[in-house]
Amino acid sequence: MANYVVGISGGSGAPYTRRVIEGLVDAGHDARVVITDAGRRVFEIELGIHLTGDPETDTRTLMERLDPGSGAGSLELFDQRNIAATIASGSYDSAGMVVLPCSMGTLARIANGVSSNLLERAADVMLKERRKLILVPRETPLNLIHLRNMTAVTEAGAIVLPAMPGFYHRPESVGDLVDMIAGRVLDTLGVESTLLRRWQGSDD
Ligand SMILES: Cc1cc2nc3c(=O)[nH]c(=O)nc-3n(C[C@H](O)[C@H](O)[C@H](O)COP(=O)(O)O)c2cc1C
Repeated sequence: MANYVVGISGGSGAPYTRRVIEGLVDAGHDARVVITDAGRRVFEIELGIHLTGDPETDTRTLMERLDPGSGAGSLELFDQRNIAATIASGSYDSAGMVVLPCSMGTLARIANGVSSNLLERAADVMLKERRKLILVPRETPLNLIHLRNMTAVTEAGAIVLPAMPGFYHRPESVGDLVDMIAGRVLDTLGVESTLLRRWQGSDD
């Protein structure tokens, strides 16, 4: 099974992050997680899960609070200041990375090669190694700087996958909407999951 890096920055969207991490571990993959200070703040506001910034404590907390089914994968958090972590190197064998949610600040720094923390460095590594990098922004409305930065990361090889659920599957709950985005993220990473419902067409 593969290693996937999950970067969590301070945008809104922690419920998506939870489902993607659960999906990776459930599929037997190893999730390598790095979260910014703002990411920890929003994670607690949105999920009520307090992360301290200490990677060992936070790995345990996520293992207890998330529900990765009967998955055989693993979960490990890294300190965002630890630029000597494995995921900071292009020699680390990773199948891809998702930044979920991707704040406009983190987007701007990735778009401009500013590796000021481990998340941004890991994203920069994905681009230089031509590996899959998915950025999931959640911001509205967008200004010209946001749009230009999305263009720049796309030109550099990243995939911008906005957290914009559709309604054509007739979602019945917030959970359905969350799973639609989490399923698209996992599918784009190349990870099998039960979250994605593929469109079967319509006779309406
Ligand atoms: C509750 C909350 C929700 C936020 N939602 C967003 C958001 O959806 N998109 C965004 O770009 N920033 C959002 N922010 C602001 C970012 O957290 C802030 O710009 C931060 O500096 C980003 O830092 P980071 O990129 O290092 O994680 C939010 C902040 C809070 C407290």
